[in-house]
Amino acid sequence: MPLSKSRLHAVTDAGPAVRGLDLVHRPRRNRKTDWARRLVRESTLTVDDLIWPIFVMGGTASRAAIPSMPGVERLTVDEAVKAAEMAAKLKIPALAIFPYVDPARRDPTGSEALNDNNLVCQTLRAIKAAVPEIGLITDVALDPFTSHGHDGLLQDGRILNDETVEILVRQALVQAEAGADVIAPSDMMDGRVGAIRAGLDAAGYTDVQIMSYAAKYASAFYGPFRDAIGTAKTLSGDKRTYQMDPGNGLEAIREAALDVDEGADMLMVKPGLPYLDIVFRLKEAFGLPTFAYQVSGEYAMIEGAIRNGWVDGDRIVTESLVAFKRAGADGILTYFAPRVAQRLAEQG
Ligand code: PBG
Repeated sequence: MPLSKSRLHAVTDAGPAVRGLDLVHRPRRNRKTDWARRLVRESTLTVDDLIWPIFVMGGTASRAAIPSMPGVERLTVDEAVKAAEMAAKLKIPALAIFPYVDPARRDPTGSEALNDNNLVCQTLRAIKAAVPEIGLITDVALDPFTSHGHDGLLQDGRILNDETVEILVRQALVQAEAGADVIAPSDMMDGRVGAIRAGLDAAGYTDVQIMSYAAKYASAFYGPFRDAIGTAKTLSGDKRTYQMDPGNGLEAIREAALDVDEGADMLMVKPGLPYLDIVFRLKEAFGLPTFAYQVSGEYAMIEGAIRNGWVDGDRIVTESLVAFKRAGADGILTYFAPRVAQRLAEQG
């Protein structure tokens, strides 16, 4: 029931103490002006926090829209070089490269992953030659290369673990040879981080870092990404025998502990916003550089709402990314990276 005017006066006149209000603790004081808010802000987003995932495809001088990721395009290698130049100008520290492989080059074992002139390797070499100052992160997993869209070898409906790991090590070596700075295994096979570390070291790539997708969940938020790399229609079944169950948190800590033990330099959690608790827990537990991947479905939801005029684009994007910092992330893989970097640059 709304207070009548006379009742309101009566309450006000009674004074704050009588109303039971705390006169000492007034957290709003620190929010009173912009300068005060800036002064006490705990987490901020800078361009140094951004990793930009890009999609590459064959051909030259063209870009192809990805309908479920409005504003994101697949780029031919020469266009990817231009994107890298732009990213370097904006001071984005690193790119993550994902290929759309010609379906004719996909087979059950993903053999194209081991072709040292595949799309990923071509992109690595071209960007390294033109923009040596930007960091290049490559995804280790077989799904862009397999005809069935799984991250590993498929036999009688099962994904083989150890046989897959052997191929992943070779895939990592092919990428390191072509110039990858960071190997990011996203396949979720057991033991792959240790095997890749040993393989890299034995081949002399002792400086190549490993960013482990330590806690990667079997998620519907990857849907648009599978459109982007062309596995949405070909994927047989789902990835629940290797990616994690969304109901599990402690298991993420056990998974990450194994990866840390096996030599991971950095950890990653994926998807992002729905799994902020996992980001927080991993950072607390290990204190290692920890990243979050704001995945394609998260991008699509936010960008879709922006394009419909339902939310304020700049504010919602910044807020979604600051949330990762608050949770303890050292950086974020996000398709919004160029947009945010541009805006940060304009703000000076
Ligand atoms: C596959 C891989 C996936 C993503 C990155 N690497 C999808 C999957 O596991 O099916 C998802 C990224 C995104 O949704 O933006 N190895």
